[in-house]
Amino acid sequence: MTDRNVTLSTEGKDFNYPILEGSVGPEVFDVRKLYGQTGMFTYDPGFTSTASCQSAITYIDGEKGVLLHRGYPIDQLAENSTFMEVAYLLLHGELPKGSELHDFTYTISRHTMLHEQLATFYRGFRRDAHPMAIMCGVVGALSAFYHDSTDITDPEQRMIASHRLIAKMPTIAAMAYKYSVGQPFLYPDNSLSYTGNFLRMTFGVPAEPYAVNPVVERAMRRIFILHADHEQNASTSTVRLAGSSGANPFACIAAGIACLWGPAHGGANEAALNMLREIGDVKRIPEYIARAKDKDDPFRLMGFGHRVYKNFDPRAKVMKATADEVLKELGKSDPVLDVAKELEQIALSDDYFIEKKLYPNVDFYSGVILNAIGFPTDMFTALFALARTVGWVAQWNEMISDPEQKIGRPRQLYVGQPQRDYVPVDKR
Ligand code: CMC
Repeated sequence: MTDRNVTLSTEGKDFNYPILEGSVGPEVFDVRKLYGQTGMFTYDPGFTSTASCQSAITYIDGEKGVLLHRGYPIDQLAENSTFMEVAYLLLHGELPKGSELHDFTYTISRHTMLHEQLATFYRGFRRDAHPMAIMCGVVGALSAFYHDSTDITDPEQRMIASHRLIAKMPTIAAMAYKYSVGQPFLYPDNSLSYTGNFLRMTFGVPAEPYAVNPVVERAMRRIFILHADHEQNASTSTVRLAGSSGANPFACIAAGIACLWGPAHGGANEAALNMLREIGDVKRIPEYIARAKDKDDPFRLMGFGHRVYKNFDPRAKVMKATADEVLKELGKSDPVLDVAKELEQIALSDDYFIEKKLYPNVDFYSGVILNAIGFPTDMFTALFALARTVGWVAQWNEMISDPEQKIGRPRQLYVGQPQRDYVPVDKR
């Protein structure tokens, strides 16, 4: 809290709202008393000027292209950390000491298996089901299996649920893939890293040993770290809103998965690769740039633009370098990468994109990497959900422990009919 206020004048009266200061970033003014004092709400569709909570987890400076987790820059974490280390950091606030990391990794690895009966759930889905449909269903269903970690008033149960969710997501996502291609499910191998285990469960088969390619493993680790958290984005806000009613953590994360699925959010990586494939040839790029700029055409360049980043997306930089590394290692020259690089160059020098501050976001290059590794396009968003689960559970835990937490209940500007009397059907 500062000793400064914002004064709002209406109908000849002044009302003061205290200015609150975070550790870094824009100040906010506290309007909690606004309605009681003035009878007015604030109007902010899409929350473009509204801080919905206080949080100590992730900081973004969209103008400068900065993303910090618990103060640590994302590029340093992507370069040096394991995913387990980042998960611990997001959940507990500090980088783990050696023994803490060991214990955390051990705990997560002991929760990687799914209740065996959950495997039967998959058979209820069509083989061509979108993996995100399966993820929503199976993650929600975890609440029906792990009753001993659904009491949200008990911090220990909350942490067990968080560990379970982080540990089981790779198994759930890999099983969704295996089901779609008609191969047997593979049980986790806890001797492997988090990412190595996921790659084996996805691409391995029981008939032969699977060797994890270290370049691919490093790329997956980076992709997971880059997607781990992103402050109060749509799906995280969904998890918080669902959790604010006291819903159990598995149900809340299922709600987050549903929100992430949309093409304006996590679904953009799938949409971006589909778009690059559709463009197909660098010669066709001007046609698509023209469509993106045409007000009468709903087409947007997928993987471009961001609500918060108005300079560059720091995650996209790491992603682009990783794309080059993976394609080199796998000996693939993907025409889609050529289209992506050329499109980026053309868009970045075009006035429309410069004026509107539209830059490639994290999803622009991730699809190229995942495609080269061998993931089908519809798995991309499932991988995002897997990684973002860490951020979701960290934010959910923070919200539940916050003494200022209340059920989320936005208000509205009503523009419908005022009260009127019922008219019988023969008189309408
Ligand atoms: N291509 C062409 N024009 C665009 C694009 C784009 N990708 N994105 C925004 N614009 C234009 C938009 O038409 C609008 O123009 P005008 O002011 O003339 O009406 C202006 O830029 C501002 O757009 P907005 O929709 O008001 O901005 P927003 O902050 O509400 O939307 C966004 C952000 C990410 C939803 C949007 O940029 C978009 O739809 N991008 C494509 C989808 C995408 O890549 N999403 C992934 C986001 S990063 C991963 C994640 O965090 O989920």
